[in-house]
Amino acid sequence: MNIAIITGASSGMGREFARRLDSLLKKTDEIWLLARRKDRLDALCAQMQTKTRAIALDLTSEKELAQFAEVLSISDARITVLVNCAGVGKYGAFSDQKSEDINGMLRLNILALTEMTRICLPYMRKGSRIIELASGAAFLPQADFAVYAASKAYVYSFGCALAKELRGQGIYVTTVCPGPVDTPFLENAYDSPARMSGLKKLTMETADRVVETALMDSRQGKPVSVCGLPMKLLYLATQSTQNMMQFFMQAQQ
Ligand SMILES: NC(=O)c1ccc[n+]([C@@H]2O[C@H](COP(=O)([O-])OP(=O)(O)OC[C@H]3O[C@@H](n4cnc5c(N)ncnc54)[C@H](OP(=O)(O)O)[C@@H]3O)[C@@H](O)[C@H]2O)c1
Repeated sequence: MNIAIITGASSGMGREFARRLDSLLKKTDEIWLLARRKDRLDALCAQMQTKTRAIALDLTSEKELAQFAEVLSISDARITVLVNCAGVGKYGAFSDQKSEDINGMLRLNILALTEMTRICLPYMRKGSRIIELASGAAFLPQADFAVYAASKAYVYSFGCALAKELRGQGIYVTTVCPGPVDTPFLENAYDSPARMSGLKKLTMETADRVVETALMDSRQGKPVSVCGLPMKLLYLATQSTQNMMQFFMQAQQ
């Protein structure tokens, strides 16, 4: 049985990935949607053409992840697409942040994403695809978004390295790096919308544009997906600086 798995499918970009994959995937028997809010997953399932399974779980719980691994192991599944979309961000000075918010970001954005990838990989074959949701925040350290940006720098580094490791097996990994996207994520990240910079508001993308670009880039086997001109310019600028630094470091050796 061919399946696609999407985490964070109850909202924002995860829900958009589910809707688009529903119409795009022809050889997929089932789509599995993962998030904590079962009512929202059930509502989405009811709108899907492909047979869809709602799996309510907290990805930050080791026990619930292990239970998911068990469900997968008895399912005779071959995973065609894994989208690791679940993620959370809390804006504010590090010194003012609560320990539960800091640990929540690290557990979900880093540990859960890594563990989901590890659990799903044995069920992938040539042609399977992994989409890891990082952020444009991965490109540069960000004051007042320190832990979130650092967690996404991890996802970016992990995804790019994995893309190289798995390419030989015909498994393609695309790391998606959007700038601000109009989803509930921003309401949860900023206590008040006034705290969001004018530049962020100006460069805001829609979830459907980011997801459409990500799926196109994934189909083309691109290791990184960046949507919109402002983010593309930032990406190119940080890449050229890194390449220059690598060149000078190698020249000094
Ligand atoms: N929106 C932006 O500006 C933006 C920009 C760059 C990157 N991103 C990244 O893009 C991804 C998707 O974000 P989004 O904008 O679509 O956010 P969103 O609308 O807030 O969706 C986040 C999803 O994560 C799920 N989730 C949160 N905690 C969870 C947990 N403990 N266990 C299981 N699922 C959990 C939520 O579902 P439940 O609450 O039902 O569990 C929800 O479905 C994230 O990784 C985010 O960091 C977002």
